[in-house]
Amino acid sequence: MAENANELMDKLVGLAKRRGFIFPSSEIYGGINGFWDYGPLGVELKRNIKEAWWADIVRKRDDMVGLDSTIIMNPRVWEASGHVVNFNDPLVDCKACKARFRADKVFFVLAKDGENALLSAGAEADDDEAARSTATAAANSKTRRRLEDHAESIVWEIHRADKMPDGRKAVCPKCGGELTDARKFNMMFKTFVGALEDSSAVAYLRPETAQGIFANYKNIIDTQRIKIPFGIAQIGKSFRNEINPRNFTFRSREFEQMEIEFFCHPNEADKWYEYWRAERYNWYVGLGLTSAKLRLRDHQKEELAHYARACADVEYSFPFGISELEGIANRTDFDLSQHQKYSGKDLAYFDDETKERFIPYVIEPSGGVDRAVLAFLCEAYTEDTAPDEHGNPQPRTVMRFHPRLAPVKAAVFPLVKKDGMPEAALKIHNAIKAAGITSSYDEKGAVGRRYRRQDEAGTPFCVTVDGLTLQDQTVTVRDRDTLKQDRIAADAVVRYVSERVRA
Ligand code: GAP
Repeated sequence: MAENANELMDKLVGLAKRRGFIFPSSEIYGGINGFWDYGPLGVELKRNIKEAWWADIVRKRDDMVGLDSTIIMNPRVWEASGHVVNFNDPLVDCKACKARFRADKVFFVLAKDGENALLSAGAEADDDEAARSTATAAANSKTRRRLEDHAESIVWEIHRADKMPDGRKAVCPKCGGELTDARKFNMMFKTFVGALEDSSAVAYLRPETAQGIFANYKNIIDTQRIKIPFGIAQIGKSFRNEINPRNFTFRSREFEQMEIEFFCHPNEADKWYEYWRAERYNWYVGLGLTSAKLRLRDHQKEELAHYARACADVEYSFPFGISELEGIANRTDFDLSQHQKYSGKDLAYFDDETKERFIPYVIEPSGGVDRAVLAFLCEAYTEDTAPDEHGNPQPRTVMRFHPRLAPVKAAVFPLVKKDGMPEAALKIHNAIKAAGITSSYDEKGAVGRRYRRQDEAGTPFCVTVDGLTLQDQTVTVRDRDTLKQDRIAADAVVRYVSERVRA
């Protein structure tokens, strides 16, 4: 990772804390690894993302219905889905320093032919590509220099810690100590339902919201006048006992997902897969993630789960590397077939026009809310200069959120705290709030400083009541990004802001 990328991440985490976007969970007790709380600005940003998704995915469409299923379900759900047996990460421990790693995220670069030396151990990045390049960069410099002397004759091989050749033992990326063999570690959080704490009472906190949708598929078919192709959408908490939570909120143990299971005829699955692949990518672009930092990556055949026919990730170039925001998968009829088998309930779909019975195929766009928040925070973070009240350029940090996502849409200031200006400003502030739009009122300090505070929060519009307001009932509205000031009638402010933030 480049030095300035580290620096950028530090600045972002600092701003998130200082301005009340994101706090470590239970911080007064030292926090708890992998858990994060959203403060007053963060919760607004997060809600705006979820509301934009819900509006665009559920409310604006005729082929989608919503759902809110429970976090704890009958444990048979997780047997049917395969999570009890397969939701594992391979783990290795360092025998010396006791550090623990995901074996599939620790890479070793071996030089084949001639030297056959172990060059490096490393990498905690989230995607294999980044992990490999970090591993290569971290290569033991002495060995590397020795090998570089005859670099042309060297053939490199990259191995995962749990797939080392010739019984060769991997070593700890931190201290060089010996690593244990890889072991399987199930990532579902277990709990007990009821008074007994024995195996009959074991239940799981869901590791994905998707299975709640499959478990309700029959209820929805039976109660809604809906025909295939259609989708069920859900937003909710998921829990995974991640081995290495890291990169701020990117890999957390408690997080939210926004998931769609889109049911279609098997013959139409490829068409719908292409549709959702493009649709979901464009959704992020439309909300301000520039396409230069966003990419759609198709999975190679070897990466696909055994039941998946195709999968693509929407990836974002975070300061810590290119990583997944959302996955779009063609899950075939795997999930419904499994639930039919385990529940004994008929989950086939009957098409009363064609008289055909079949288990629908499922296209699943599955995104993480917290990862979306993090990507929008990274994208918004900008340092530039803006003139202060004397016209002198001053450095500023500005969060350039899309107006639809900005936590606070407008701020209203009286230029000075007298001459009826606070009263006039409060009237406008209250009118904005009455229209259901978030607004902040601020009368403290120089107006330039008040602008800076709002720039850091990402507020797109600042409304200032000044001497002229009292004469002609007009105010200035300053645009966060262009710094342009419009003079408009005070009673037109609500419409002005509302037209621009609902776009
Ligand atoms: N139902 C499919 C499913 O859950 P996934 O790729 O494991 O697929 C989907 O998860 C999305 O959930 C990911 O693209 C990511 O945005 C989010 N996600 C997964 N694990 C996460 C974690 N530990 N912390 C934050 N977000 C996570």
